[in-house]
Amino acid sequence: MGALFADLKETLPDGASLFRNRLTLVEQREILDAVERIMAEAPPFRPQMPTGPYMINSLTNCGPLGWISDRRGYRYEPTHPTTGKTWPPIPAAVLACARALTKEAGLGDYDPDACLVNIYEATGKLSLHRDFDEADFRWPIVSFSFGNDADFLLGGLTRGDRTTLLTLHSGDVFVLGGPSRARYHGVRRIRPGTSPLTHNALPLGGRINLTLRRAR
Ligand code: SIN
Ligand code: FE2
Repeated sequence: MGALFADLKETLPDGASLFRNRLTLVEQREILDAVERIMAEAPPFRPQMPTGPYMINSLTNCGPLGWISDRRGYRYEPTHPTTGKTWPPIPAAVLACARALTKEAGLGDYDPDACLVNIYEATGKLSLHRDFDEADFRWPIVSFSFGNDADFLLGGLTRGDRTTLLTLHSGDVFVLGGPSRARYHGVRRIRPGTSPLTHNALPLGGRINLTLRRAR
């Protein structure tokens, strides 16, 4: 197992670190309990893209700022678009883990102000994109996976570059920083039936992803 993960880490480009199985099942459940409370306070919604169609996945946010999209564009807002309330705080365990792992990845201190909660149904996916709505790309992105496996595509700095497939499992934490911060990435598909746990927050056959960023 160690050898497999060591090899995998070596194949990742500079600035990208995949921490496999970093969260125990107990920790995953505790974070999902917190996500359930976040969803109760800040109901998930399917944003409209600036081009018109609605996103496939629903989302919500926690932290001082939340990522949203509508006809006016992609941006960060301090309040939920329909309730008008500020987003609930980022769970302390998520923040602590993200800070420990950015340090471990050699990316220094981390002070995220936004956490996007992506909710994938069994048929969910996310097309290739860059996280491009933040002010300063020196801050890394830290992403947590819960529930069913996701076939994650890691691309290059331009859209047409070759992509590498990484299957993200529940409890994995993925860090994109340094020269990899601006890489294209997406989720090709979810693999229902692969989750090591069930939880009220998780859609049947689906997956939840938490993505932390420093937006401003
Ligand atoms: C994202 O790029 O916003 C989410 C990635 C993921 O779901 O793993
Ligand atoms: Fe992204």
